[in-house]
Amino acid sequence: MARRPMVAGNWKLNKTIPEALALVTELKNALASVRDVDIVVAPPFTALWAVHERLVGTNIGLSAQEIFFEDAGAFTGKVSGPMVKDAGCAYAIVGHSERRQHFHETIETSNKRVRAALKAGLMPILCVGETLDDRQKNNTTKVVAEQLDGGIAGLSLDDLKRTIIAYEPVWAIGTGHVATPKQAQEVHGMIRDRLRSRDTAMADAMRILYGGSVKPDNAHDLNEEPDIDGSLVGGASLKAADFIAIVRATRGTH
Ligand code: 13P
Repeated sequence: MARRPMVAGNWKLNKTIPEALALVTELKNALASVRDVDIVVAPPFTALWAVHERLVGTNIGLSAQEIFFEDAGAFTGKVSGPMVKDAGCAYAIVGHSERRQHFHETIETSNKRVRAALKAGLMPILCVGETLDDRQKNNTTKVVAEQLDGGIAGLSLDDLKRTIIAYEPVWAIGTGHVATPKQAQEVHGMIRDRLRSRDTAMADAMRILYGGSVKPDNAHDLNEEPDIDGSLVGGASLKAADFIAIVRATRGTH
């Protein structure tokens, strides 16, 4: 089944507003003719609105890097789904391993965020992935399955049709140690099989992105795998030339 690949750039804690505008201006000019890949950028909250205004009418979508699960109230420092939707976002990354590691994100709170994103009309990009320790102990399947099952718990079939999964092995993030296409495919295939037990058509349509040291020189081979439907790019999304090359390398792989 043909799935439309997606390449999303997670900028993490990087880019002032002028830097963000300079980067997306390069992206939109270079990628204007791309029609077969969904291109998404996830700037920090402070740059969302400015980037949104710069991207109106282009083929590049906007994502938040995180949202809180309550919509409004006495939660100092938090930003909600309706707020990022208001700032122009169509997507929200949820459950990134850096949030699990540094900000007490759990499977339960990720699930609340996935539901909050859907309720706000956003498409959640749910991140799952094992640590090096998990992998060395042969716990990859168990850990990823738990994060997946818990992250999408309670979602209707309609919700799942608006959800994207990103497999990001923690040991590959920011390390330069990309998973081999075979290693990644094994987990992507397992994720899709699990989704199949819920509904075959939904599972076949679900985009499963790979993240962790994706670069221009490895993006094509990763995306040649049958269950890899694009990438969630960190470091290489901060450089226009690299991100553009990753999008181009993804074209025609599905
Ligand atoms: P790197 O591409 O820098 O390894 O980061 C991946 C990531 O965490 C994307 O969300």
